[in-house]
Amino acid sequence: EDLVKIVQPLVDWYRENKRDLPWRHNPDAYRVWISEIMLQQTRVEAVKGYYDRFLKALPTVKDLAEAEEDKLLKLWEGLGYYNRVRNMQKAAQQIMVDHEGIFPDTYEEILQLKGIGNYTAGAISAFAYGIPKPAVDGNVLRVISRITGSYEDIMKQSVRKKIENTLEQVIPSDAASDFNQGLIELGAIVCVPNGEPKCEECPVKEYCIACKENLTTEIPVKKKA
Ligand code: ADE
Repeated sequence: EDLVKIVQPLVDWYRENKRDLPWRHNPDAYRVWISEIMLQQTRVEAVKGYYDRFLKALPTVKDLAEAEEDKLLKLWEGLGYYNRVRNMQKAAQQIMVDHEGIFPDTYEEILQLKGIGNYTAGAISAFAYGIPKPAVDGNVLRVISRITGSYEDIMKQSVRKKIENTLEQVIPSDAASDFNQGLIELGAIVCVPNGEPKCEECPVKEYCIACKENLTTEIPVKKKA
């Protein structure tokens, strides 16, 4: 597709406009992992405080693997979805047993960890290791649907798969992290949901069908499950 054209403008825009967020400093795999799990259920502003406190209390995979349950639950209290932190501890224990406590550095191995699906495995691979794998969350589904002018239902697993495959073809191997984070950032601050995207600020507006044809209220299509 024509998505190749968005790569450089998006990467350049991200480098100029990215928010200064704690997990963007020293993005090692453990830090990226914790942040991405927290961000799946909670807004950026709320995550910041939890994130710093969690890392201070449990700075390594080993600390997480060995933490007492009540300590773990206290650190997570208010974030909800407690299975996520229980799964994270199981994954940390897997890393201790299967990888000698060193966070694995291939997409396939990361995907084997408890509680880690395609999105999180892609995010860790790209942000921590620069591996050119896509990280397709709700932001990215919306951004790509609008750019390509697609009326397909983004709630469908098949649509997500297709977008992942398309993106995998265009992710630059020398800027995998900035490209993926650029898509997320664009969706969070410019290509926002509903009727109010800030298309005039968008670095890829000239390549965006929804912008050019005034379709941002119709796209993405999100049917109820
Ligand atoms: N939402 C999900 N992942 C994110 C990230 N890495 N930065 C900002 N918002 C996000």
